[in-house]
This record gives sequence, structure tokens and C-alpha cells, in this order.
Amino acid sequence: MAEALSSADYERLAEERLEPGPWAYLAGGSSDEWTLRENRAAFARWTFRPRVLCDVSDISTATTVLGTAVELPVVVAPVAYQQLYHPDGECATARAAAAAGVAMAVSTFSTRSHEEIAAAAPGIVQWCQLYVFQDRGVTREHLADAADAGCSAVVLTVDTPRLAQRERDLRVGFEIPSDLPLPYARAAIGTEAQNPADQFALLDASVSWRDLEWIAGEGRLPVVLKGIVTAEDAELAVEHGAAAIVVSNHGGRQLDGVPATLDALPEVVEAVAGRVEVYLDGGIRRGADVAKALALGARAVLAGRAPVFGLAAAGEDGVRHVLELLRDELALALCLLGCTSPDELTRAHVQRSAS
Ligand code: FNR
Ligand code: LAC
Repeated sequence: MAEALSSADYERLAEERLEPGPWAYLAGGSSDEWTLRENRAAFARWTFRPRVLCDVSDISTATTVLGTAVELPVVVAPVAYQQLYHPDGECATARAAAAAGVAMAVSTFSTRSHEEIAAAAPGIVQWCQLYVFQDRGVTREHLADAADAGCSAVVLTVDTPRLAQRERDLRVGFEIPSDLPLPYARAAIGTEAQNPADQFALLDASVSWRDLEWIAGEGRLPVVLKGIVTAEDAELAVEHGAAAIVVSNHGGRQLDGVPATLDALPEVVEAVAGRVEVYLDGGIRRGADVAKALALGARAVLAGRAPVFGLAAAGEDGVRHVLELLRDELALALCLLGCTSPDELTRAHVQRSAS
């Protein structure tokens, strides 16, 4: 293939390079994959309303997330088991994120520790994605380690009390190698649980709003809630002191039948009414997708599969190129919309398409 020009090109390269198991796990969703498809389809339902003659000679994609300066309103989403996609795993992703000047959320099922990632990628803005194990001692150590390694936020994922039915994985018999390093999960799961659903059965499904205070206290870090799609839960999140909300349906991997995140975003933004930052993930493949999410009220987006397509295809360079593509495409979209920075995007820059 000629040089990759888009994240879709990296998706094709990743599929060519990966074994069927890791590919199914990366690309797939849950049940009928309706929500997975909707996440992408929703971006096509919104069209742009560009403004002209705005002096767009000087464009910046820079912004802040949780008060930290970043080069673009994109955070690398937590994606588990990254050594499956490249021998350097999360360290390769982190080096690319640091080079691009973006923050990275590191999964509880990371194959590298926060400390290893900080050493591999000096300057990286790391967030710790948290799943709470039934064995709270394991979670307590995880949070302490994250704070010691300089993580600046905890991203508590709230849509996964159990793993949903991932039929693509089951069809190909996907299993996690028992020697895959999992510094924050191995102590709880041992070497027996070899598929993701078995590993997730060790998480604590009793976690509730009452636990937020404990998590914030243990980690001594702001808590971002990832996986909210209703105004009701957005209101509760703010009341319970969340620092930010990620409107997410886990990339269509959890409850199938949940709307596209772009469709859920407006009700969450309205309920939050500016009290905390709202991010969106699900289906981000182009800079124009980022622009649409921002126009509908997101402060930033998280990108999950797109950077990992780059990782699987070409390691650190692949992730770096995917992030550069998102940056360049966003800068172009801003310019052609008549905006010089992400802050200038408003609801008036998009409309729901007629069809
Ligand atoms: C995920 N996601 C995820 N989320 C999380 O909170 N903890 C995790 O460990 C993982 N692991 C994971 C693995 C894989 C292979 C994928 C594809 C996704 C969900 C992720 O953070 C994010 O919500 C979605 O990936 C966003 O959708 P896109 O960008 O992949 O379309
Ligand atoms: C997933 C988990 C790891 O989506 O969050 O597979």
C-alpha cells in the first residue's frame, strides 16, 4: 500500500498484520454491534455550517484538559493489553502521545506500569483508568502506584460492571496469553483467567456512587467518570464531585442498543451546564469528527481504536502518524469552518442533516 493517509489506512494495515484473535478483540463490539456502527453513523448525520472571511491565517489546535495544556483536544483512550499489538505496548503509544503533546489514559489491564511508561515517555501526561477489583487491596496499590508515577487524574470506567457478550472474540476463541505482563491486574487474576470475560468477573460489580469518595481519597487525584450517556447520571456525577465526564458507550463494546455517543452528547452537555468538562469518545477517526463533537459541546475527545491501529501497523511511528493526521485534519476543518482555535467552535457550526 502507498503511504497511509488516514486512520482508515492504518485500520486496513492493522487487520493485515494482526492474528485473528487480537484483531477481533480490537475491532469488535458487543452483541449485534449496532451501537458500534451507530457511533460512526452519527457523525454522518451532522453536517457543517462553515463561516467565511474570518481571517484564518493563524490556526492553533491547542487547548486544555483538566487545566493541563495539550496540543490538541484529543486524549488517547485507555485500551487494554497493548503488548498484543506491539512488543513495546503502552510505552510505544505513550512516546507518540508525548511527541504529539496529548494526554494518555492507561488501562487497568495495561501491560506496562505507570512508572515504566513515565520513564519511556518523559513529559507524558498520564491518566490512570480504573477498574475496581473485588480485592480492594489490588485497587489500592494500583491507585498508589498511579499517584507515585505522576498520573494527574483517575478515569473511573462506569459502564463495565460485567463484560458484554463479544461474539467476534468467542468465534475465534480469543484468549489472553497467560504470560502477558499485567502489572495492575495479574495479582487479582493469577494465570488461570485467560479470556477477557473471565478476567472481568474479578471486578467488583457492587461499585456505586458511594465509592467515588473513597477512590478520590485513595488516589488523591481528580476523578473523571467514563461511560455516562444520560442527563440523570451526568447530574449525579457532578453532585458527587466528578472532575469531568466522558460521554462513552465503550466504543460499542458494552450495552448494545445504547445510542451513538454523538447523539447522547447534547443531553449530557445540557445537564452539566458548564460545571465540569465533558469529553466524548466512540468512532473518532478524523479531525472533522473531533470538530463535530466540540461543536456539540465536548471539551475534547478520546480516541481508542484509531491510535491502536497505528500501533499495530507501525508501532510508535504509527501512533504518532495517526495523531498527526488527527491534528492536521482538525486544523484544516477549523480553518475551513472559519475558526482559529477549538474554543471558537459553536453549536452554530453544525446542523443535523435532513436525511
Ligand atoms: C477499550 N476500551 C477500554 N476502556 C476502558 O475504560 N478500559 C479499558 O481497558 C478498555 N479497553 C479497551 C480495549 C479495546 C481493544 C478497545 C477497542 C476499547 C474503550 C475505550 O477506552 C474507548 O471508550 C473506545 O475505544 C472509544 O471508541 P473508539 O475510539 O475505539 O471508536
Ligand atoms: C474492553 C475492556 C478491557 O473493552 O474495557 O475490552
